[in-house]
Amino acid sequence: MDRITLRRPDDFHVHLRDGPAMASVLADTARRFARAIVMPNLKPPLRTTAQALHYRDRILGELPEDAEFEPLMTLYLTDDTPPEEISRAKLSGRVHGVKLYPAGATTHSDAGVTRISRCFHTLEKMEEVGLPLLVHGESTDPAIDVFDREQAFIEETLGPTLERFPRLKVVLEHITTRDAVQFVEVTGANVAATITAHHLLMNRNALFMGGIRPHHYCLPVLKREEHREALVEAATSGNPKFFLGTDSAPHARAAKEAGCGCAGIYTAHGAIELYAIAFEEAHALDQLEGFASVHGARFYNLPPNRGSITLVREDWTVPETLAFGGEALVPLRAGETIPWKLA
Ligand code: NCD
Ligand code: ZN
Repeated sequence: MDRITLRRPDDFHVHLRDGPAMASVLADTARRFARAIVMPNLKPPLRTTAQALHYRDRILGELPEDAEFEPLMTLYLTDDTPPEEISRAKLSGRVHGVKLYPAGATTHSDAGVTRISRCFHTLEKMEEVGLPLLVHGESTDPAIDVFDREQAFIEETLGPTLERFPRLKVVLEHITTRDAVQFVEVTGANVAATITAHHLLMNRNALFMGGIRPHHYCLPVLKREEHREALVEAATSGNPKFFLGTDSAPHARAAKEAGCGCAGIYTAHGAIELYAIAFEEAHALDQLEGFASVHGARFYNLPPNRGSITLVREDWTVPETLAFGGEALVPLRAGETIPWKLA
């Protein structure tokens, strides 16, 4: 196959940042995706519907004239998000999820949730109005091995939360383990998961290829090969519980190449192309459209996109760096060749 045409896809998990940084990266996402669930972990975080709607206006203000792209907004859940905020979010018609960052789990998560029980009234309201909880599923217990944190979160927090709120819609974001795949497979239709391109393409060896590789560091961190294989199987299975979310998370080069480099991999410059590589390796290009353009929209009760994109088999070289506000950004596969090109 030398050409793939897909219904326009959606990215159900992306970090667009704000200000000049956002202006630099937004077009990469808007060229490929019709809609994207935009993460609220700005500094300060987007806690209210009003803040999310202002951010939405800033995004729309930076879009190229001819872009047809709809940002789907989210709220950042805190210990004291009031249930009334959930009602406002739902009523707005523009907020499509509420993001749970366990406090301290990842970039800009210090305002996150310290104990899930503090949010029970808010979760109850979300269950009632059908607003999905988008979960960064990692335990923050420093005693737990960093490679086991997803599994620990599922056992200790997510499982019990779903027992308490059995109809709560939940997206377990950027899953990285076989355990997460199995959890999502056996739970009800109200539980789904996003999978990134980088977790489909790399295992944890990629962090240490000939030396430490800060541009392969993200959270949840890359896992063993057996887990990568489980993710590929899930993504290419046709199971509608699994869909595309890039978790493209740009950071300035200096913030990554540092004594304490921050977590996040930038993939928006070649997002759908990178997924095509992973699906082709699995001999499952025919499953890409469901994963990228159908399953997620259905889960979020969004109409299917109109129009299509086409990928052609043509080599192009990823630039060594991209502009990122006044700084530089190192994209995934910088300086390497990608065999699929957006027509
Ligand atoms: C994300 C970021 O940089 O905002 N980083 C990452 O490694 N994925 C935060 C997140 O989604 O965990
Ligand atoms: Zn993310």
